[in-house]
This record gives sequence, C-alpha cells and structure tokens, in this order.
Amino acid sequence: MANTNLTKAKNAKQDEFYTQYEDIEKEVRAYLEYNPDTFRDKVVLLPCDDPEWSNFTKFFALHFEDLGLKKLISTSYAPDSKQLKIGSQLTLFEKESPQFDPTKTQIKGKIFELDRDIDGNGHIDIDDLQWHYLEGDGDFKSEEIKALRDEADIIVTNPPFSLFREFLAWILEGDKKFIIIGNMNSVTCKEIFPFFMDNIIWYGCSISSGDREFGVPDCYPIDASGWRIDENGNKYIRVKGVRWFTNLDHGRRHQPLSLMSMNDNLKFSKHKELKGKKYQTYDNFNAIDVPFTDAIPSDYDKPMGVPISFLDKYCPEQFEILGLSQIGCHDKLPDIKKYNDYKEMRCSDNQPTGSSGGKTNENAVLPGKGSKKTYYLGSSGEIVHSEYKRIFIRKKQ
Ligand SMILES: C[S@@+](CC[C@H](N)C(=O)[O-])C[C@H]1O[C@@H](n2cnc3c(N)ncnc32)[C@H](O)[C@@H]1O
Repeated sequence: MANTNLTKAKNAKQDEFYTQYEDIEKEVRAYLEYNPDTFRDKVVLLPCDDPEWSNFTKFFALHFEDLGLKKLISTSYAPDSKQLKIGSQLTLFEKESPQFDPTKTQIKGKIFELDRDIDGNGHIDIDDLQWHYLEGDGDFKSEEIKALRDEADIIVTNPPFSLFREFLAWILEGDKKFIIIGNMNSVTCKEIFPFFMDNIIWYGCSISSGDREFGVPDCYPIDASGWRIDENGNKYIRVKGVRWFTNLDHGRRHQPLSLMSMNDNLKFSKHKELKGKKYQTYDNFNAIDVPFTDAIPSDYDKPMGVPISFLDKYCPEQFEILGLSQIGCHDKLPDIKKYNDYKEMRCSDNQPTGSSGGKTNENAVLPGKGSKKTYYLGSSGEIVHSEYKRIFIRKKQ
C-alpha cells in the first residue's frame, strides 16, 4: 500500500513537467528543414496543455503564419482533476476575461483556438487566440477531446508521464501524425516497441543524449538534484533520458551511420572491450553482441544485438530491427531460439529479483554483488550470456 502511494506521488509529480520553448522550437525546426510544408494547412492540436502559459501554445501561436497553419487548438486539464494539486494558477488573461468563472476555472478544462485575425491588425497571431471553458475537465480520453483529436492533423504535446502509453495508443487509434515528448525507456515496453520495429514510430531529431530542463509548478517539492529557481522565482528541474517520439519524417533518420568493418573495429576500436578481442556471441542464439552503437560492423550480414541507444542513430534504409530482448517482439528473427524461453534477472545485493514481466527463478545464482547487469536464464535455469537489454538488428540486404 505504502509503495502504491509512493508510486502515485511520483507519477503525480512527473505529470507536471513543463516543456521549454527552446526544446519545442529546435524539434519543430528539424521537421521544417526536412519538409518546409510539414505544418502547412494543418490543424494542430495541443492537448494536455496549459495554454495561458504553455510554451507549446506560445510557439505555435507566434508562428501560426510562417508555419502556414490552418487552425491551432490547445486544451487544458481542470486543476481539480490533476493528481498534483498545484493550487490556483490564475493568469490575468483569464481573470480579466468576460467569461471568467471562479467555479468553472477549477473543474473545467479550457480550449484555446486560433484560426483568423480577430483584432484586425492584418496578422493571425497570439493576440487572436479565443478561449472558453470546455464542457468537461479536458481529459484526453473524453469524447469532447476525442472529437478535437479527430479534427486535428497533427498532435503535439508533452503528455502526462504516467499516461504515456495510453496517450500514444489514443493518438494511434485516431491515426494522427504527432510529435510528443516522453521518457526514452518507454520504447522498450511491449505496447510501443513493435511500432519502432515496423517503422511506424521513431525518435524525433533534436534530443539524443543528456538531460533537459523542464519547468515545474511552484508547489513542486524540490527534493531532486539538478534544480534551479530563476530570477522570477520559476522552478526548473533537469530530467534525464528524454526523447521526442514522432511519426513525422525528418532528415536525421535517413542519414546512415558511418561504420568500420569488423576487422577494422577489432584492430582500431576505441573500446577496450573490442580492440584486439572479438565480438561475443550469445550462448543461446545465433547473433553477435555489439556493446556500442559505433562498433556495429559495416560488413556483418547476420543478426546483431545492440544497445537501446542505437535507436538514436537508427536509419531504416541501413538496418532492419528484428526484435528486443525480454519482450516477445522478435517474429522476424530467423532460425533462432526465441527469447521467450529466457527469463530476465536483475542482480541486486545478490538477491534474485523478478523482471518487469514478473519472471523469477529462485534457483538462480547471480554473480557480482550490486551489478546492474541483466542476466538471461535458459529455460532450464542456467545463466546464459549476460547482457544489458538489447535490440536485435540486421543490415538491410
Ligand atoms: C507533462 S505536463 C505537460 C504540460 C504541457 N504540455 C507542457 O509541456 O508545458 C502534462 C499535463 O497533462 C495534464 N494531464 C494529466 N492527466 C491528464 C488527462 N487525463 N487528460 C489531459 N491532461 C492531463 C497534467 O495535469 C499536465 O498539465
């Protein structure tokens, strides 16, 4: 019970990370570089937003004309429905509007729309945004927001962390183009990885390493490292492992990795694990293990296990994705004993613990106290070649 409450509290906090303007701008620019008409004549929906102060709304409203948008719609979630009670964050914009209602502001979501020049200054811009309260609380799963999804061509947002999978499924159900930001680890869950494998979803362009700064509400308990408060008293924290997820094309994903042959890697690799050694093979299936993306041999035609970070460099014209260890997404792997036969074990203080899939093997003897490595156990309980999570790929023929 205590654990459930802790998880809830953690999720509630992570659902309230606000994206910085520069991060949105950099990502959108990457699509425009590839195709300047990416947003032309499109209806863009920004759900799960807080339009009065969101940088998503600000960016798309300010660039309405140069992006060539047809319509911008942005919706927010009612403060009373949010898991983290962030208190009243009323802006002057709302308070001074004729439609301001002190009750509705707590229990209703809001919708902001932009599609024409209201103030007659000859431009469609942020000053032409019109708003009103929604019928409901702005929950993306509601019929009201679903109807907006169906009207939209492209959905852009930072969805609540705790509902990332559900949110992505919601977008795909509507068959929409999207750019959303989330935790890179989401890729390894069985609901998402198959879409990466089939080139239906890929990572965006502008974030491939390091951490990013997000705004957090005033009430946010600053108990993490890497936070700051700016001169206006706004709080920010740095978050690791963030990626854009998208199904809009961009240039980076069509740039093949520049790689050395297997022989050259073994002679000249900068990695001590490879230089003068050889590529390990798995005990239980026919693939080589490549511990670093830049050490993928250019001339090897069979399956290879590579780190998850390979996806930051993945070019679908260069490689095909065959599967992922630990989940059953490996239908394309030929002549290989399926990974389903293996159980993932994590080693923590020498105590075998179950995998995320709840698999355990009580008899496992795990080497290396405190090791963070993941071990695969053969179906008869033996420890087979131990490695981190791996994506299995093969050079495109
Ligand atoms: C990660 S924040 C991002 C906010 C904004 N898009 C940004 O980046 O600045 C996610 C937002 O979704 C809201 N939210 C949580 N659950 C929601 C739901 N079921 N439907 C709609 N919005 C929700 C949260 O309250 C929060 O405001």
